Amino acid sequence: MIWTILLLVQGMLLLFVLVSKRSRSEKEPPLDKGVIPWLGHALEFGRDAAKFLNRMKVKHGDIFTVRVAGRYVTVLLDPSSYDAVIEDSVSLDFTRYAQVLMDRIFSLRIPHHNPAVEKALTKQYVPILITHSFLCGQPKNSCTCTLIRLTATRNQMFFSTCHSTTTYSPSLSLSLRAGYLTLFGGELNNNRTDPTNVYEEYRKFDNLLTKMARTTLKPEEKRTAQSVRGRLWELLAPAGLGEGSGSSPWLRDYRHLLQEEGVDEETQRRALLLQLWATQGNVGPAAFWLLGFLLTNPEAMRAVRREFSSISEQDSAQCPLLDRLQHTPVFDSALEETLRLSAAPFITREVVQEKTLQMANGHKYQLRRGDRVCLFPFISPQMDPEIHQEPQRFKYERFLNQDGSVKNDFFKGGRRLKYYTMPWGAGTNGCVGKRFAISSIRQFVYLVLSHLELELCDSEAQMPEVNTSRFGFGMLQPEGDLAIRYKPRHSH
Ligand code: HEM
Ligand SMILES: *[C@@H]1O[C@H](CO)[C@@H](O)[C@H](O)[C@H]1NC(C)=O
Ligand SMILES: *[C@@H]1O[C@H](CO)[C@@H](O)[C@H](O)[C@H]1NC(C)=O
Repeated sequence: MIWTILLLVQGMLLLFVLVSKRSRSEKEPPLDKGVIPWLGHALEFGRDAAKFLNRMKVKHGDIFTVRVAGRYVTVLLDPSSYDAVIEDSVSLDFTRYAQVLMDRIFSLRIPHHNPAVEKALTKQYVPILITHSFLCGQPKNSCTCTLIRLTATRNQMFFSTCHSTTTYSPSLSLSLRAGYLTLFGGELNNNRTDPTNVYEEYRKFDNLLTKMARTTLKPEEKRTAQSVRGRLWELLAPAGLGEGSGSSPWLRDYRHLLQEEGVDEETQRRALLLQLWATQGNVGPAAFWLLGFLLTNPEAMRAVRREFSSISEQDSAQCPLLDRLQHTPVFDSALEETLRLSAAPFITREVVQEKTLQMANGHKYQLRRGDRVCLFPFISPQMDPEIHQEPQRFKYERFLNQDGSVKNDFFKGGRRLKYYTMPWGAGTNGCVGKRFAISSIRQFVYLVLSHLELELCDSEAQMPEVNTSRFGFGMLQPEGDLAIRYKPRHSH
């Protein structure tokens, strides 16, 4: 036994010497390999990336390179220098790492895939998706149709009397089911395509998502992941096939595009799950955080309600709800503030040819081919106390000027910032669905507030903590929840 251990230790030491050869050259960012061979900082990174990167920032400054599971990742935390990364799609590649994740999470490889065509398709449909509306599958129907259809189904969250519930699951469930019905089609009470089944499987899938991305699933989790994924592929199989599927024209065209590219049936289904995640994965959590911040900040809730009620009072025959819901500066600021606090994606690029990165302060750093570069806007600009006073606090009017116009002048070190919050990424690979997402969240919150009376069970309740294992994966999720009471509003 003791010999085995000694041999193992020796082996590890040898490995350590072999793989830790890399040292820093003068022109490169500070290098921090961590003490564990190969893994480097992977464990700390996965547990709470924000905490880890803050620690590294204090130690090394706004740029440094860390070793994470065999890869070298250069982290840049100076928002004034972000353009040097975002604007360079020649030396820094978006697609490769995206494909690694697609394979790990969705088990999806599309051989002759052209992401540019797919992106152009989504871009072209975003304005149409907005007018067709998130909660109204059919534009003919009244704007509340999907929400009403959903709430009318039994065993859901709405009853005629006062009930209490948590906030997170209902927000996610309602938002995902409505989004799924609108984009993918599907029918209520049909086992094969019922949105509730899709929602339930999706939640299980989403719970394992970070582990799939990091390839840290335990054997039994791996089996669960595979079977959940398989069930979702089955449930999504009919979506986008012809008029009868009830899917949006966007999804029908997307599926058609895959067929034209010669993608087989099985792979098409996998691609549909990717689209479900891309279009729904962040919207539900965003809606939850916003509702939560409004419930725990009565002044913000009053301001948003006031704005919404002035919209309800406008003549609805003259101007349909969707048009009236366009100009909502107070809501927009509250949403921007919500995303500042709860959107935490990594913007990751692979260095495909050696690059000199010039920082805003003039310093130049050499980036090595094969490394990754990672921006983490959550630390800066979003939670940077130099840019946003009391960054931990929700201030719904943070992005409004005194006169009610949009506030967009924010500074760091005397320099006016182009990026003072960055929930959508930016540049060539910034979020294509931004306007659709905003419109969906706005309708969701509008409909919830106008149909329900909501209040906290405990008026002193605070927002739940965030689940620190999700830093880097888009919208954060809560650890814990907010208990609320609700009943239908009778004025509608
Ligand atoms: C609150 C909701 C959302 C958030 C916070 C969000 C955030 C982001 C971010 C940060 C990126 C950039 C990733 C990078 O640069 O590495 C991105 C890309 C993207 N988003 Fe979103 N997104 C949301 C909703 C949506 C929706 C509803 C759609 C679909 C209609 C969508 C479609 C896309 C697509 C297609 C890309 C990839 C762009 C490319 O390939 O260059 N997103 N999103
Ligand atoms: C749907 O599935 C449930 C449980 O799996 C089953 O009890 C029910 O009979 C099914 N309904 C239909 C219409 O197939
Ligand atoms: C935190 O997120 C991970 C990954 O999604 C999940 O597996 C875990 O159960 C979550 N923890 C809590 C306490 O919700």
